[in-house]
Amino acid sequence: MGKKVILSGIQATGDLTLGNYVGALKNFVKMQEEFDCYYMIANLHALTVRRDPKELKNNTLKILASYIAAGIDPDKSTVFLQSQVHEHAELGWVLDCYTYMGELSRMTQFKDKSAKHADNINAGLFTYPSLMAGDILLYQANLVPTGEDQKQHVELTRDIAERFNKLYGDTFKIPEPYIPKVGARIMGLQDPTSKMSKSSTIPNDTILLVDTPEDIMKKVKKAVTDSEGIVKYDEKNKPGISNLMEIYGIITNKKMDEIEKEFQGSGYGTFKTAVAEAIINELEPFHKKYNELMDNPKYLEEIYDEGAKKASQVASKTLKDVYEKIGIIR
Ligand code: TYM
Repeated sequence: MGKKVILSGIQATGDLTLGNYVGALKNFVKMQEEFDCYYMIANLHALTVRRDPKELKNNTLKILASYIAAGIDPDKSTVFLQSQVHEHAELGWVLDCYTYMGELSRMTQFKDKSAKHADNINAGLFTYPSLMAGDILLYQANLVPTGEDQKQHVELTRDIAERFNKLYGDTFKIPEPYIPKVGARIMGLQDPTSKMSKSSTIPNDTILLVDTPEDIMKKVKKAVTDSEGIVKYDEKNKPGISNLMEIYGIITNKKMDEIEKEFQGSGYGTFKTAVAEAIINELEPFHKKYNELMDNPKYLEEIYDEGAKKASQVASKTLKDVYEKIGIIR
């Protein structure tokens, strides 16, 4: 029995948030010890929103540097750019033809993003989940580690794969979403009813991995809480405090009831300082490594070129099989 295969990715859209780190990246790092991991930078996916070309290139490198700085080891995991493995675009198109408009219209992310970018509801935004299905299925992934917001896309991937397998015989492994129990949906610090997002325009709502310790302290101190003054996990009635508890819990490996005990009798000020310090300590080695990597683009290039070679070997096999089955001459 070989190792289970893991595939996941992050869009090449700017600096990563604490949400990306807790919901996804931290698990990517853990999983590489046990599994055969493929981690891509989804730069083709980033095109669904207008991007400045220079910025997109730089953002691609930033995500790669973040992967490595967070602890992904390119000798253990295959780290690559989606655009360097042309099979993604090809299988994405094929799967477009096996995905229904009705399915795509039900995707929450499509609905949210079309509301946000009402002037640019392009076809790519709509068919985005088929491209993502292609990413996953090319590697015959068993597990897809993501935050809660991507679960619906992984479930659609399963449906598409099952549909294809039924028509043409076993072709794709059916992947499972792998969503952490705690931290799968980190909320904004100013609006704890919406997820923390790179694209948030509310000041102090989002912690970025590249934020300075001073910024992190300031943002956490300003986080919206409630007037009860008790550190207690209650997502419904105390979303702000519960969110900070989740962040603290993930970083310190403590359960919610342990955190409640730890801060029994202390006010929110003490709790917030502890949360901010935990984040700052966690990100300190990340910052150092990230800055070194961003100063060394040659090294980053070596990593993605090598990763693309390894990824292509697997992806090309799957696409060959698909093309043969559906009657496409290469
Ligand atoms: P993206 O780039 O929006 O987010 C990257 C990862 O971070 C998780 N995440 C969060 N987790 C917890 N709390 C939050 N506030 C939070 N915000 C984001 C996301 O769930 C995700 O795991 N479509 C994907 C990228 C992608 C992909 C794939 C993922 C492309 N192809 C194949 C898995 C497999 C996306 O836009 O993620």
